[in-house]
Amino acid sequence: MTDPQNRAQQGLRLSLSLKALHNFWMTGDIFCLDFSWEGPAPKPGQFFMIKPKRSAVFLARPVSVALFNRESDTLRFFLSLRGRGTAELAAMQPGEEAELTGPLGNCWEDFLPKPAKPAKIALVSGGVGIGPLFAFVDLLLLNYQHITTHFYAGFKKGFKSAQNRDFFLAVPYMASDQLILTAEDGRLAEKGLVTDAVNPAEYQAVYACGPEPMLKTLAASCALAGIPCYISLERRMACGLGACLGCTVETRRGNKRCCADGPIFPAAEVFFDGQR
Ligand code: FES
Repeated sequence: MTDPQNRAQQGLRLSLSLKALHNFWMTGDIFCLDFSWEGPAPKPGQFFMIKPKRSAVFLARPVSVALFNRESDTLRFFLSLRGRGTAELAAMQPGEEAELTGPLGNCWEDFLPKPAKPAKIALVSGGVGIGPLFAFVDLLLLNYQHITTHFYAGFKKGFKSAQNRDFFLAVPYMASDQLILTAEDGRLAEKGLVTDAVNPAEYQAVYACGPEPMLKTLAASCALAGIPCYISLERRMACGLGACLGCTVETRRGNKRCCADGPIFPAAEVFFDGQR
């Protein structure tokens, strides 16, 4: 594996004022925000700092790229309502401007099994954590066809209709060899927790993004099975550039900055809450 001081971090980044192209709800919880982007192409797993131009909130919000359409130079982000910052982004109308800085952070590709030989991997998402895994599955489809991918997507609330579900999940449907959906309420998905659906022993590696309790459970089951697990973490961020030390991740190799050393970390290195 490449050391997390990876090539993505050395790449270019830009701050641009951009007009929103589309903003719509994908599910009852997750909305989708598109911008046209002419800066450096993001690598799957990287994120942008985003803030509407007219904003009452001081800090921009870090959001991982869900898809980058290379033909139309369109960036797509998935978000859920968490507070005032995301409420402002949810209210953005097409044509309204936001400041975007990026692409930032490391990328999934740095953590793929090497050398390139057939492998079976699991991608596991919880809620809006599906965003960065969309980008990952797109990369696997394009450049890593020797890797078999099983995609596990877990949600608290299931889908309102099969049509809504199939539209939302079109990319993982296309790009994964198997797609397993779970919902805690069981609506149009397997009832239960996504972590119960994954058997890490079936895979060479597991990649995940979602709420921290989910990641902690998955990290423990991967450790038990002796399977490497890589997780994309979320932290509140101020600068997003590694300068303010406001996004600490406690690891076995000392404190790391989620924005500049991550957001993707080997799960075995991370101290989850109260675990030290
Ligand atoms: S947000 Fe400033 S160091 Fe990470």
